[in-house]
Amino acid sequence: MGEFADKVVIITGSARGIGKEIAAAFAAEGAKVVISDVNAESCAATAQEFGAQAIAMPANVTVKAEVENLVEQTKAKFGSVDILVNNAGVTRDGLFVRMKEEDWDLVLNINLKGTFLMSQAAAPVMMKQRSGKIVNIASVSGLFGNFGQANYASSKGGIVALTKVMARELAPRNVNVNAVAPGFIVTAMTDKLTDDIKENINKQIPFGRMGQVKDIANAVLFLASEKAAYITGQTIAVCGGLTMQS
Ligand SMILES: NC(=O)c1ccc[n+]([C@@H]2O[C@H](COP(=O)([O-])OP(=O)(O)OC[C@H]3O[C@@H](n4cnc5c(N)ncnc54)[C@H](O)[C@@H]3O)[C@@H](O)[C@H]2O)c1
Repeated sequence: MGEFADKVVIITGSARGIGKEIAAAFAAEGAKVVISDVNAESCAATAQEFGAQAIAMPANVTVKAEVENLVEQTKAKFGSVDILVNNAGVTRDGLFVRMKEEDWDLVLNINLKGTFLMSQAAAPVMMKQRSGKIVNIASVSGLFGNFGQANYASSKGGIVALTKVMARELAPRNVNVNAVAPGFIVTAMTDKLTDDIKENINKQIPFGRMGQVKDIANAVLFLASEKAAYITGQTIAVCGGLTMQS
């Protein structure tokens, strides 16, 4: 029996990368895991890797009807929604003076509006249960305003603020809402960077290296656990010391 035995967890954008690692960590602790992603094919393939404990439920977090259906299907299949991890996210980097409006809209829609829509669909279930945990995946970019990421940093800073509002509004129903702000983590997202950029980034990190997906999964599981029962509205930066909040 793992720490999350029989808990039902929805993880958005979990077909690969950080989301997939978070799903693996919950599955290893006995949770029933809903692998959700806009990419239906890789969503099904990932769920299959985890066996009977996991189920694939594709959904685009920007489409209200799809996220509502995701929550309904999860309830119908497993009976509850105990934990929601809002992980789906994208980047479309560029200098803000030249940033295309569609790149602004795309990133804000998926990262911030997707977190809002998904949480709005799952929160009523948790409020009724008088228990639940929402963990949002922000980014240190949203804390320090990374160069070339006007859209992404704004979306992630928005997630930090949304986390605080939801935490205040849901605390009376015993629902915790927190965020994890990853620093630079070794994934497909950071593989796109050139070696020069990676070297420059590593120089700025006190630990001198990028983090691993496991580092993020560990923080998410802590915030979703009873060990974090008295923590809400917080953003934990998991970044090797890249940013330090005052
Ligand atoms: N990799 C990093 O260094 C890093 C750093 C800080 C924050 N993050 C955040 O961590 C999260 C995961 O990042 P990752 O590196 O694993 O990225 P990734 O690109 O490997 O995975 C993101 C997943 O989200 C899915 N997705 C995209 N749009 C979607 C939508 N509209 N609806 C549902 N799913 C959608 C993608 O299909 C993909 O499977 C993101 O929110 C990202 O912003 C990553």
